[in-house]
Amino acid sequence: MITTQDLIKLKQPDTSILVSSPLSERFSPRVYASDPIPENDLMKIFEAARWSPSAMNAQPWFFYYAVRGTKSFDLIAQTLMQGNEWATQAPLLIVACYITQDESKYESYAKYDLGQAVLSLVLQAQLLGYHGRQMAGFNKLQLLESLQLPP
Ligand SMILES: Cc1cc2nc3c(=O)[nH]c(=O)nc-3n(C[C@H](O)[C@H](O)[C@H](O)COP(=O)(O)O)c2cc1C
Repeated sequence: MITTQDLIKLKQPDTSILVSSPLSERFSPRVYASDPIPENDLMKIFEAARWSPSAMNAQPWFFYYAVRGTKSFDLIAQTLMQGNEWATQAPLLIVACYITQDESKYESYAKYDLGQAVLSLVLQAQLLGYHGRQMAGFNKLQLLESLQLPP
């Protein structure tokens, strides 16, 4: 049986300049075991996002998650674009949102901040033994409507 460690070795690039772990071990699989993720691990993963830096410490993000086998998971899965069917096998889908309406007079860096927070989340997940693949290939309007998310 191929283990995650075998895969990480296979994925290691052949380069003389190796960055350190967990960055060197990060990769985005398209195949997932569907075992559920314990609540404790889940909370740690989202806590890592909360620790992420943001402009003016605005923390302009929200995360919604859905566990495989629930109605919310299916609603998210229905918005996937062609080529992203692999995601229906994952135990968890996370929707990463940034706040579009910035009421402060400062320029909003919300997209930038969200990207950093997501990487923190992904790396924390990896340190707990999971992997994640980020995705832009889904219908955002359909998802907003079906999950009834604010704009
Ligand atoms: C913003 C963003 C959007 C992405 N969208 C998709 C996607 O829709 N489908 C997909 O399979 N991978 C998607 N990816 C994953 C990238 O293709 C992947 O990170 C890249 O090929 C590098 O591979 P690695 O993460 O294993 O190093 C996305 C990644 C990012 C950061």
